[in-house]
Amino acid sequence: MKKEILKILKNNKEYVSGQELCKGLGVSRTAVWKVMNQLKEEGYEIESVSKKGYKLLDKPDILSREEIESQMDTEVFGKKVVYFDEIDSTNIYAKKLGEEMDSHGILVVADRQIQGKGRRGRDWDSPKGSGVWMTLVLKPGIKPADASMITLVAGLSVCKAIQKLYGANCLIKWPNDIVINGKKICGILTEMSTEFDYINHLVVGIGININTMEFPEELKLTATSIEKECGSRVLRSELIAAIMKEFELNYNIFMETCDLEGLMKDYNKYLVSINKEVVIIEAGQKYEAIALGINKNGELRIRTKDGEEKNVFSGEVSV
Ligand code: BTN
Repeated sequence: MKKEILKILKNNKEYVSGQELCKGLGVSRTAVWKVMNQLKEEGYEIESVSKKGYKLLDKPDILSREEIESQMDTEVFGKKVVYFDEIDSTNIYAKKLGEEMDSHGILVVADRQIQGKGRRGRDWDSPKGSGVWMTLVLKPGIKPADASMITLVAGLSVCKAIQKLYGANCLIKWPNDIVINGKKICGILTEMSTEFDYINHLVVGIGININTMEFPEELKLTATSIEKECGSRVLRSELIAAIMKEFELNYNIFMETCDLEGLMKDYNKYLVSINKEVVIIEAGQKYEAIALGINKNGELRIRTKDGEEKNVFSGEVSV
């Protein structure tokens, strides 16, 4: 019921009468009053005026299951949210959920991770209240070899959601970092459990720096946050819901062909290195090339200095 009341308050700029709420939700006045008090305790600024009803004065940046679910406008992705104030890693929890039958689309969100995981065994700093730390469980029924493309779909979706909400010039650094003004604001870690030629489940972990203003010395030159770059105030639940909306839409396009045929044009529009020089580090070898965009398998097409065109699979690329 808390989720429904939040939804109603958010959708109404004017007062909503207690009677209206009771009738609409089929509950008692006391029950509504109790929920209002709970919400106030959680930090929502709710004005209650006799004979008029309740009004939400400000949208605070609060995370809870109800808050996130009340923003969600999807069919499957993030319809069910599992929320933690603190957890080791949302990826670790999501992998456990992935073992369950009906977990496709469940979103795990935390306010803080104490063992956040990055790619290549690195740690991912996830302090309280300063980012979006979330993992989506998927059971896509595709071949393990095609799974890396889902990470690209996720990256494109994060990028589009941030651009739409904050007008930020946010771009993709292939394969799956999101950058603003050349510095990383988001990383994606996809992990999967496979059986022979079959994906049992896949978890897509997304970490976005929201309001960190100062980064540790070793990250100063490479990392940033949305608020630092754009100055816009970010409501994390709103951003999470916008990302899930984009992700679901793009995932459905991907699933039609099980490749990026329908998305690569869009992806290449956001590619930070398109038509620019990149350095490829491949099997210990370093060379320069021009990035031409991704192909339908998600590989990066490049042109080397001697005019040869080829595809890069998993080599590290720096702009
Ligand atoms: C990277 O190294 O760029 C990937 C970082 C991924 C971090 C996210 S935060 C939510 C999810 N849980 C984790 O432990 N890691 C991912």
